[in-house]
Amino acid sequence: MTPTTKIHSKKELVLFGASGDLAREKLYPALFDLFLRDEGIKVTGCGRTRFTDAEFQTLVSREVAAKRPKADQAQIQAFASSFRYIPSDYSVEGMRALAEVLKKTPERSLFFYLAIPSEYEIIALLMEGLVGNQLLGETSCLALEKPFGFDFSSAKKLNTLLAKHLSEAQIYRLDHYLAKDMVRDLLALRFANPIFEPIWNSRFIHDIRISIFEKEGIRKRGQYYERSGAIRDMLQNHALQLLAFTVMDQPQSLKPESIHQEKIKVFRKLRLFGNEKLGNIRIGQYEGYRKEPFVAEDSLVETKASLRLEIDTPKWRGIPITIETGKKMPERSTDIIVTFKKPEHSLWEASGCSLAENRIRINVQPKNDIRLRLNSEFSTEKKCALPTDLRFGFSDNEELFKEPYDNALHDFFAHDQGTFLNAEEVLMSWKLTDSILGIIRPVRAQLLKKY
Ligand code: BG6
Repeated sequence: MTPTTKIHSKKELVLFGASGDLAREKLYPALFDLFLRDEGIKVTGCGRTRFTDAEFQTLVSREVAAKRPKADQAQIQAFASSFRYIPSDYSVEGMRALAEVLKKTPERSLFFYLAIPSEYEIIALLMEGLVGNQLLGETSCLALEKPFGFDFSSAKKLNTLLAKHLSEAQIYRLDHYLAKDMVRDLLALRFANPIFEPIWNSRFIHDIRISIFEKEGIRKRGQYYERSGAIRDMLQNHALQLLAFTVMDQPQSLKPESIHQEKIKVFRKLRLFGNEKLGNIRIGQYEGYRKEPFVAEDSLVETKASLRLEIDTPKWRGIPITIETGKKMPERSTDIIVTFKKPEHSLWEASGCSLAENRIRINVQPKNDIRLRLNSEFSTEKKCALPTDLRFGFSDNEELFKEPYDNALHDFFAHDQGTFLNAEEVLMSWKLTDSILGIIRPVRAQLLKKY
């Protein structure tokens, strides 16, 4: 589709934190992708930094050119030329200028995106600014980024604050892992292929492992990371969401409410494996972490963590589900691996061949593919059934592949909550996380291993 320089949409994105890392690295390139698909919308950037419109447009085009090196310069210019910037702190007074500008086009629905930390004090101030300037109407929506709160009680406080001014349908809590193509494809894999559902339980499954490994360290995020650590940063949200999608029952429909409901049922029954405590928790810290900027010399913050969990229901009890994450790992890879039990009697034992377990490995990144390990006698000289992988995925259909923030923004502007989290599931996942952090707290120093 040829992009137009005119934006026809009646929607306007108001982006707070417009000069921050998230906006620059993820949101501007994604907005550009939508623009190329003719889904462009008007953008007003807001933040404490002072920019003129021209300076802001230069920043946006520079970032897009860096992240989309093959893009046409003229298209990038056309895209950025519709951006405007209004400096503002988040107080009622500080948002006056923004309100005046936005009120000139009352026909537009406003989509507020908070590309800033979802910390209570900051969000409370910003909400006051929006409400005090009558910027929140019935059609406005508000997106927030994870981490949504710091623990159960701060997340609850945030939910209550937002619920004072917005209905749940107007609040979009983003977990960008749910916007990854392979994660969006999980429901189809599980429920559009009835061959899997009958074996998706403790009778046939041996164990499930969900890992999110990154090659990079914490980069320049020491200040944030020292308060967060790997469990809050990755397991509380991304990994638990992948887990819920992997094991939840079939929702009644594809409507977001039905999906949220099923995920909540999973979170309610999740506990440490066998209800045992320390044996199921591992934490580590990479060599050199304490030398990173803003990190304490004696920091005990974990940069790697693994939890062995279980769902306490007849369908899943006894099946270990491991979620793990780590920075500075040898490879960047996110996988969901479901391993099935071996058959009770193998016909190939007689010739000294043991069978490998059937396994489904969903590589969320970087390969975006699904591998199903089957045993077969293909090209074996001995009477052995050996493992072979059946493989399919987005790398075979690259034109279908989309960046997570393209998906997330598309859904946000389409009022589709499927990629976003509801108030209760956020609380449920904090509840589990808080209890695990509570177990770790008194023994952190002994538990933490260097790697
Ligand atoms: C973020 C975490 O939510 O996800 C980061 O705060 C992490 O620490 C990032 O690096 C990983 O996202 P992705 O999409 O690169 O796997």
